[in-house]
Amino acid sequence: MDKTWVSEVYEKILAKEKKVAERSRGKIPYTTKDGVFDDKGKTDICWWTNGFWGGMMWQLYHATGEHVYLENALATESRLDANLMTRQGMDHDSGFKWLPTAVAHYQMTGDTAARNRALLAADNLAGRFNPVGRFIRAWNDWSGKEDGSFAGRAIIDCMMNLPLLYWAGDELQDPKFYHIAKMHADTAARYFIREDGSAKHIVDFDANTGEYLHSVGGQGYGHGSSWTRGQAWAIYGFLLSYLYTGEENYRAVSRKVADYFIANIPDSKLIPVDFRQPESPAYEDSTAAAIAACGLLELAKCVPEKEGDKYENAALEMLKALADRRCSWDEDTDNLLEKCTAAYHDAEHEFSIIYGDYYFIEAVWKLMGKELFIWGNRNKSLPI
Ligand code: GLY
Repeated sequence: MDKTWVSEVYEKILAKEKKVAERSRGKIPYTTKDGVFDDKGKTDICWWTNGFWGGMMWQLYHATGEHVYLENALATESRLDANLMTRQGMDHDSGFKWLPTAVAHYQMTGDTAARNRALLAADNLAGRFNPVGRFIRAWNDWSGKEDGSFAGRAIIDCMMNLPLLYWAGDELQDPKFYHIAKMHADTAARYFIREDGSAKHIVDFDANTGEYLHSVGGQGYGHGSSWTRGQAWAIYGFLLSYLYTGEENYRAVSRKVADYFIANIPDSKLIPVDFRQPESPAYEDSTAAAIAACGLLELAKCVPEKEGDKYENAALEMLKALADRRCSWDEDTDNLLEKCTAAYHDAEHEFSIIYGDYYFIEAVWKLMGKELFIWGNRNKSLPI
């Protein structure tokens, strides 16, 4: 597929984000109100998305060297220390919080305080491993009662958090982190991926025996459905485990979910919240398109060229649809992506969400050769 449009999109992002970054100094945005970013750091410093703004800033700093991005990235990382000191707010999403902030910072500068933060987060994440069920517990008990009600719950999104463990394993030369991450990935491959290549969102295990109990309808339409962001986390997440470990089955799972995803992309190339949602109300989720595009672009590099074209073309088609029809190029509006949806049954749908902007930028950066690769390790020579 033609890629000439990508460099135009890249230039438009740079022109817009410089202004957005200048006027959003000190914030950790989640969404926009009337086109202006909120500050989620003020209302919930432990919210799972609080690393993405920092990640955007590192990607922009990596591409441009402009100081405003560095300042915003560092400010986000240090505000997240309040989360690191709040045990109840430390869940499996430590990868989403500290890979795009502290690990990115350490990759860029070798900063030892950033390394320390990321290792503390990795230790906590490793501590969530249930050895009898061989899975990482997703959430803490939301009520705060600590009655163990979520002790056996794992979710597909965790595949994106595993790279924090692989990174810590490399950093500390301690294979324990690899073993934990791989055991979780093996469990996820076995219990989350259906025969047809679709991925479940939530699975409950018996936390005492490790026995598989059931799956639960999550942020998609319902039980047995196919939440598109979950499919995207699976494509990208299993591929990242492949990049770190070279374990063939992880690439095979990533491909299986990718093939399923591509077979379900609508003619519009715009992605619904759930591939099995009813015709009405038919909500959209631009974040799923952006995340899936990132995973597909990485997958395309890990398979023989002819087979990779299929994954790259699907990514390009979704990204072009986002750029043409779901991006706000208005430089006075803070968000980039429109029509993002956190969950099918939430009261609000189709608004801006920061991780949509993050992954859209990451995907464009991949295509432009400008990316700081914060989730993985491409240095190993793997068989194609
Ligand atoms: N990780 C939660 C979500 O994707 O909404």
